[in-house]
Formats: sequence, C-alpha cells, structure tokens
Amino acid sequence: MNPTRFNVNGSTVEANVPDHNISLLDFLRDTLNFKGTKQGCGSGDCGACTVIVEDADGQTLAVNACITPAAAMQGKNIITIEGIANQKTLHPVQQALIDFHGSQCGFCTPGFVMALTAHSLLPDAPKKNKREDIIAAISGNLCRCTGYWPIIKAGMASCGVGEAAQLRHVRMWEPQGALKKPHIPENCSGSSDESYQIAQNETMVAQRLEQRSPSDCSRSTIIAGATDEWVAVNQQLEQHENILDISRIPSLREITARDGTIYIGACVTHSELFAYFTEAPYQSSAIRELLTRFGSPQIRNRGTIGGNICGGSPIADWSPLLLALDASVVLKSAGSRRLVHLSNFFLGYRQTSLRPDEYLASVQFNVPQDWSQLSFEKISKRYEDDISSVCAAIFLAHDGDVVQEARIAYGGIAPIPTRILAVEAILKGQPLSGIDHDRIKIELGSIINPISDVRASASYRLQMAETMLIDRLSLEQKTA
Ligand code: FES
Ligand code: FES
Repeated sequence: MNPTRFNVNGSTVEANVPDHNISLLDFLRDTLNFKGTKQGCGSGDCGACTVIVEDADGQTLAVNACITPAAAMQGKNIITIEGIANQKTLHPVQQALIDFHGSQCGFCTPGFVMALTAHSLLPDAPKKNKREDIIAAISGNLCRCTGYWPIIKAGMASCGVGEAAQLRHVRMWEPQGALKKPHIPENCSGSSDESYQIAQNETMVAQRLEQRSPSDCSRSTIIAGATDEWVAVNQQLEQHENILDISRIPSLREITARDGTIYIGACVTHSELFAYFTEAPYQSSAIRELLTRFGSPQIRNRGTIGGNICGGSPIADWSPLLLALDASVVLKSAGSRRLVHLSNFFLGYRQTSLRPDEYLASVQFNVPQDWSQLSFEKISKRYEDDISSVCAAIFLAHDGDVVQEARIAYGGIAPIPTRILAVEAILKGQPLSGIDHDRIKIELGSIINPISDVRASASYRLQMAETMLIDRLSLEQKTA
C-alpha cells in the first residue's frame, strides 16, 4: 500500500499510518501532535473529537475522529480546531462562543466549534440559524458544565447572519502559513502497511472475499463508515488483521429509482439518505423521523445503510423500517448474486445469512403507494445520538375502514429485528373500527419477549411496543 496521504489544516501529510487499527483521533493527537481535538467517550457519543473532512468533490462534513480509521482518510482534507482561525482573527464561531459565554472548562469546546463550523459551511447556512437548526447541528455534542443555551445562542449568532460568506474566509485551504508543519516521527514514515486496502470496485471486493477462508473472517473485516466497528476497536480493544474499506466504490454509493422500486447501494450514508428522502418525489416522514433520531450529524455523515443492516443488531433502526417496507437485500460474491428477503437475512443475535465469500451490495423495496402508510417511532433515553430501547415501523394500507395490508416490525424486542406476522394476519381484512385492541395486546404479548437491560425493562419495552401499535391503529381509525 502506498503511504497514506492527506492534508491536515493545509499541510500535506504523507505517512504510513503506523497501525491500520489506529483511529484518526489518535493519529492526529499522538502522531501529528494536534492535541486540540479531544477524546471524551471514544464511541461517537460526545462530539469532543469532531473534525471536518473535505472530500474530493469539495463537500465538507463533520465526523467523529475517534471512530474514523486514520487510514480511511487517504486523499482527503482534514480540518482540526487548530486550522480554522487565522493568526489574528478567531473564526466567527469561536468569537461567538466567547461573546455568549459558551465555554467553562473548555473540554467540549473544540468539538462544538467544529460542529458549528461544519454547519456554517452548509450552502444554505444563512437560512439555518434558527434555534432548532443549531440544536440539530450540535445534537452529537455533549457539554457537562456550561449548559446549552449560551452555546445555542453563539451558534445562532455566528451561523449565517449576513456573515455566511465571511465564514468561508478562514484560511482552511490557504497554504500553510502560521501553522507549524505537523511533526511526523521517523517511525511513522518507514513502515509499510499492507493491511488496510481501499477497494476501488466490486470486483476487487469479490476477489478478496473469495480468497479468504472461514477462519479468516474474524480477522479480516469489511468496513464502510466503520462507525459501529470502531467503537469495538476503542472499547473492546478489537484488532483487525486486515481491513477492506469499501466506502468509495461508486456502484455501492448510488440510489436509483426504476419502475416503482428504489435501489440503495450499501455504502450510501445516512446523510445522503436524509437528503434523498426529505425531497420530492420520495419524501417520507417516517424516514425523516428515523434519520433525525439516528446518531448525530457526525455519525450520519459516515455511517452507511449497509453497515447498519450487516451489523445484524436487534436495535439497528433501519432494519425494522425496511422490514415494514418488505425490503430485500442483494448479496454478491465472485460467482453469484442472490436476492434475499430481509426477514430471511437475520438469523440470530448479530448473525446474518451472509456467507464468508459474500458482501451486501444493495437493498431494494417497492415505493409505497402513499408514504403516509409508513410510520416509524423510536423510544430512547437521549433524544438524539442514542440507540433505541424499542422502535416500531408500521406499514398500514386501508381502503376506507378496511385494512388491506399491515406490516409491523420492531427493534429492541428480540435477538433480531422482528416482523409480527400473527398480528398482521389478524388485522388484514378487518374494519379499523372493529379491531379488538385487547386481543392485539394479548397476541403481541404472546409473541414478543423482550429483555431487561440498562436501557429499559422488559415490561416497559412490551408496554411501549403495544402503545406504538395501538396509537397507530387509533389514528388510522380517526382518519379513515
Ligand atoms: Fe466522544 Fe469521539 S470522543 S464522540
Ligand atoms: Fe466543560 Fe462543556 S465547557 S464540558
């Protein structure tokens, strides 16, 4: 592998990332000596490690450096807190945080500055300086001493109030002036690392998987955004012998709609999906709800739909929604391509039907006749940037009062994301006004058997599952 080459605050850094399991955060802090970026949680929950990454197409995105592999940054521009002010003038976001007293201990402050700066770089930033916009922009950042209102006020004052153009004046891409050239220790430039490969096409992925034996699987890992995988690297000290990064394969990054079916490539990010499903013609309030509650801007910018499905987690939010849409996944290998109904994809807790030589290429589903037939609801302790205690996706089509089609799927109530076929069968063909809610609850209670853990008790989960379904049925009855 050629040396990893990327820019940090205008300086070109060319180095063999000393260990392909190292995070961007550790590389910035320990190798390049940019200590302004902080580590709080190491799991994408606090935002202290936020940096901005610019892609080749000029798009600037906030990401969590703690759960981003350093080697994944090949060819990108990285902006850290050290790179956004010029020698004499603070970035407007930094100045506003001072003016509005938005910092006390200051530990969280670099992360807030970078999240707000990324927000201020959006093309429509001047229109996005309302309170709710700023709250959304910092939803992945935690502050434990200042309190959020001064930070929000600073964001509202600095993001786009007639100053948006000036926010771009900061010397992000000017040749390195005042900043010192990053210090790259000698031991970083000599070693060669063949263990992190960035795949350019699907053929390369298929060939690589064909070569690996079943015993290789635990050591050889496919990643895209790695937002989940790198939590395990940080917290469970997981180490991967080989990593194949598939996030840049163009054919896996496409969303297309043909003949009433939507096809989503495995490496489409949650942010890209948010843009797609909040605009006509495929505007979906259920998907908007899912993605608004899904992680934070930093996580949505890197996490992918394929990663969310392949993790096989019972609390992955996309899985219930896709089950309710009756989706299928395309699994490919060097010699085959198979279409698997999503309900047959999940086999057990974090187990899927992917064979060792296969990868998930895309997910597809038919466009509903009316997107309002689909709903999504999530219960979690923290409103944003949290995993579900329980979530429900419900597709309900009715002709007048009579239910024609019902697909009900839950996350967080079983070892796998689960469709509730027995209740669906009870509902089908029934008039909404005649549905016996007590019978539905009894049936639901006999099927689902949630666990108690730190997020919620089993009885709470069951009660929420009942409430979400009965509420939806009652609402439909009122509007039928
Ligand atoms: Fe908390 Fe990265 S250190 S999100
Ligand atoms: Fe101390 Fe935010 S200022 S955590």
